Amino acid sequence: MENFDQIELDILNKLKNINDRSSLDLFKTEVFGKKGSITELFKKIVSLDQNKKKDYAAKLNELKQKVEKTIKTRFIEFDQVEINKKLKSEKIDVTLPGRAFFSGKIHPVSQVIDEVTSIFSEIGFSVEEGPDVENEYYNFSALNTPKNHPARDMHDTFYLDHSKELLLRTHTSPVQIRTMLNSKPPFKIIAPGRTYRCDSDQTHAPMFHQLEGLHIDKNINMGHLKGCLYYFVKKFFEIDKVKIRFRPSHFPFTEPSAEVDIGYRIQDGKIKIGEGDKWLEILGCGMVHPKVLKNVKVNPKEYQGYAFGVGIDRLAMLKYGINDLRAFFESDIRWLEFYGFDPLDVPTNYRGLSR
Ligand code: PHE
Repeated sequence: MENFDQIELDILNKLKNINDRSSLDLFKTEVFGKKGSITELFKKIVSLDQNKKKDYAAKLNELKQKVEKTIKTRFIEFDQVEINKKLKSEKIDVTLPGRAFFSGKIHPVSQVIDEVTSIFSEIGFSVEEGPDVENEYYNFSALNTPKNHPARDMHDTFYLDHSKELLLRTHTSPVQIRTMLNSKPPFKIIAPGRTYRCDSDQTHAPMFHQLEGLHIDKNINMGHLKGCLYYFVKKFFEIDKVKIRFRPSHFPFTEPSAEVDIGYRIQDGKIKIGEGDKWLEILGCGMVHPKVLKNVKVNPKEYQGYAFGVGIDRLAMLKYGINDLRAFFESDIRWLEFYGFDPLDVPTNYRGLSR
């Protein structure tokens, strides 16, 4: 019979001389691998005499367990050494100065959309959205805009195909139609978004932003429209006394229609809102035309209401003293650094809410 004590001694001695993980791995296979020394000893069991088998197997098992345990302990030792090394070399020096990072800015248009949305949400308007690529029906026909209307001209509208079916929406008013076709009155919604017209100068860009408003219910009249817009302008410009005027106008989808101007003056090169004798147009509005209501299967004898469309970019220019609209869309990072908003700043209107 083998001298198990001697074998054990040999193995343990060899183990003592192993100094790294990969040698230990190798040694483990030398002992327990397919042709490992202990594996070979196990193979012998079958050929032993019956009376020797039991004693042999018991001793061999004992040896196996001992060696296994020692190998395991040595693995743990190596791991520990590795971890300690890492902990030492990867130590964080908390006294080092922090690395400065560059934070982005919120574009004035996004900022104003947030502000305006929060103001109207407070008085019960919910937010709707519509696609930038519209079809002729939603953008014009359903809004009672006749085929010969100047707004339909190629000089004003970007058509996407020759049949003039698809176009870039020229205003957010098609969202009125989509909303009213989608559900039942009453409606009280706003719809911010991009709009497009063939236009470019200091105060016009081919792409700009509007915010549509629509309020339809029983017994809604022009007084509600005025009240709502006064409330909005005061909140938005954060002034109590505001000079606004309703100027008679024409839109095919409202009757009567008006444009709203806001009074301002320039003082030391800066714009002062709500004072002075200059006027700037900020929105179009009116009572929704009965024909529009009929187009969306709303009975005009039962339901009426008002709609308005505000130029978001104009609002941003006025409130934050930006004088060239085209700069809004030039993606000049220096411009954004100057006119943009800190993402972590709470807008004034939200502050008002929490008080
Ligand atoms: N859609 C009009 C425009 O773009 C504005 C408007 C909206 C007018 C709603 C009346 C009612 O000029």
